[in-house]
Amino acid sequence: MLFDPRPKESLEDLFDREEEVKLLRKTVNTPITLLLGVRRVGKTSLLKAFLNSLETPHLYLDLRVLEEGGYSRAQLYKLLSSSVSNCTSRWRRILEFFRSVKGVRISGFEVEFDWRERALTLTSILDKLNDYALETEEGFIVISLDEAQILRFLEGGKGRIDFRSILAYAYDNLGGLRFILTGSEVGLLLGFLRLDDASSPLYGRYISIIRVEKFPRKLSIEFLRKGFSEANLDVSEDILEAIVDRVDGIVGWLTFFGYTCLKLGGVSEEVVEMVSEKASKLIEGELESLFKRSNQYRYFLRAISLGASTWSSIKRAVEIWIGRQLTNAETTRVLHRLIDLGIVEKTDSEYRITDPLIKEYCKKI
Ligand SMILES: Nc1ncnc2c1ncn2[C@@H]1O[C@H](COP(=O)(O)OP(=O)(O)OP(=O)(O)O)[C@@H](O)[C@H]1O
Ligand SMILES: [Mg+2]
Repeated sequence: MLFDPRPKESLEDLFDREEEVKLLRKTVNTPITLLLGVRRVGKTSLLKAFLNSLETPHLYLDLRVLEEGGYSRAQLYKLLSSSVSNCTSRWRRILEFFRSVKGVRISGFEVEFDWRERALTLTSILDKLNDYALETEEGFIVISLDEAQILRFLEGGKGRIDFRSILAYAYDNLGGLRFILTGSEVGLLLGFLRLDDASSPLYGRYISIIRVEKFPRKLSIEFLRKGFSEANLDVSEDILEAIVDRVDGIVGWLTFFGYTCLKLGGVSEEVVEMVSEKASKLIEGELESLFKRSNQYRYFLRAISLGASTWSSIKRAVEIWIGRQLTNAETTRVLHRLIDLGIVEKTDSEYRITDPLIKEYCKKI
């Protein structure tokens, strides 16, 4: 069902994105591919549907899990254990490569990596996966890292993990591993991987980039029409246009609107209004938990939503509201964090809120 709110898992369920899938088929032959896009634009769906179309073994790690677990090594090992366990029933030979490794417990199809075992480093696990990959028919396996920018919170300090060095090591030495990373343009590319920074471990290596864009208007309308028609609902063009006016081509919102309308039992202007309110509540929940961490985010977002677009105009507006001066570093840090979260985009030297629903909400906070 097109309006299914969960990420899509198969190519048959995926609307459009043929070009992106074609590109993925090509770039999966290169060591590292980045799938970049703003929130709710359909990165996870594209990734999962693509992975499931492969005969090749593949691991999927949703790194958002680390956010709950405090970005610890223990949590990362747990995530890795479950993603390897998920594919052992289909690709049983993986188990052979881990059987006599210290710190690895295997029971049935379950694999457990013990984070306390010092010899069991991440690179040693990747080495084994690489050995396995080179023995498969295709000669490679895919390791996908959803929301990979989160990995940078594992960096630094004693016993911490610099995942960029690990990727660089795999790039140089482990020809059987292909990585696909998703994330936001700035968060992943500039914030974490820093490909253009000579001090970054990944500097100078070729990395394939695929951008997942919002749907153009015509396609957004077609998406809605198709979804409603699956549910045997004939919806007027005016209503379809009205929904796209509100959410633009962000497929996650189009899906949310479609799904919620169906739940509410029909489509009319009133229902669209009710769905907008529900979406607004959802945004409120997400943003308020951000504001709990620091109330500054609230003022920054308000400033941008009301039209301040340059660094200095945003700074000035926030200073008036909070009644004190902000340091330059403070201003930049907050803006970067908002970009990181995929809420704010920066083009040239202008800051914008990408999502029209978030923008509307922020005007009122
Ligand atoms: N190409 C598509 N065809 C049909 N539905 C889609 C498509 N892409 C995404 N969706 C739907 O849109 C919603 C958001 O998709 P998804 O979770 O893949 O986006 P995302 O970019 O990973 O979002 P987030 O930033 O929250 O991680 C889901 O309900 C999903 O089913
Ligand atoms: Mg996602």
